[in-house]
Amino acid sequence: MEAIEGESIYGANRDQLEALRREVTASITELRERMTQETGFDPVEHGLARIKAEDSMREKCRRRGLPETTRSALVELFDSIGMRVVCAFRSDVYLVRDHLASLPGFEIVEEKDYIRNVKPNGYRSLHIIMRTTDGRAPVGCGETQGFYVEVQLRTISMDTWAALEHHMKYKKEAPANEKLIIDELKRCADELASTDVSMQSLRDLILEES
Ligand code: GTP
Ligand code: MG
Repeated sequence: MEAIEGESIYGANRDQLEALRREVTASITELRERMTQETGFDPVEHGLARIKAEDSMREKCRRRGLPETTRSALVELFDSIGMRVVCAFRSDVYLVRDHLASLPGFEIVEEKDYIRNVKPNGYRSLHIIMRTTDGRAPVGCGETQGFYVEVQLRTISMDTWAALEHHMKYKKEAPANEKLIIDELKRCADELASTDVSMQSLRDLILEES
């Protein structure tokens, strides 16, 4: 089932992918509105949701040694639909996570908590992979278990750090003082994390007052 050149790697599934992207986004918007009404706090600072671009999906297939097919894109890899939810506070990350876990028509099939289990470089985020359970499934790729949606949840500080670190990682040449930079980045990640804890305590104090 090789994709024909010039044809989308997503085959006939583009509309379904787009519909799912909109559906999960809408459910997060609904949560935001409800929480803002109930507590005065919007749990989400900002969010992004994208269908992975054709060329980066093809590049990822090659990098993983997979053929450039619809099956690789939608069944072997899980981030054809990718979302990032950036929250002001740590507790909101888990609030949004619990909301997604309770969404009808989806189940969480994988969860990596890099907030509790920080990566050695200092990276923090909660990654979940959801899958549809309502019978919606990709066409044209043999037997499948549903569509996948990857969600990265993090605080503003975690997001700031990840953006900077990403930037550094893709610099063409490694800098001479690479070791120092890695150590400093790790130190910044830990400082930001401790600020997150302080900000959370402040928010909890404010909520207690109200
Ligand atoms: P890929 O899906 O191929 O990226 O790998 P994976 O599934 O083994 O990795 P994981 O779920 O840990 O990470 C997936 C995504 O999280 C990456 O594509 C990045 O967007 C983000 N990420 C993970 N680790 C880091 C990191 O150390 N720094 C930054 N900036 N982003 C990271
Ligand atoms: Mg991944």
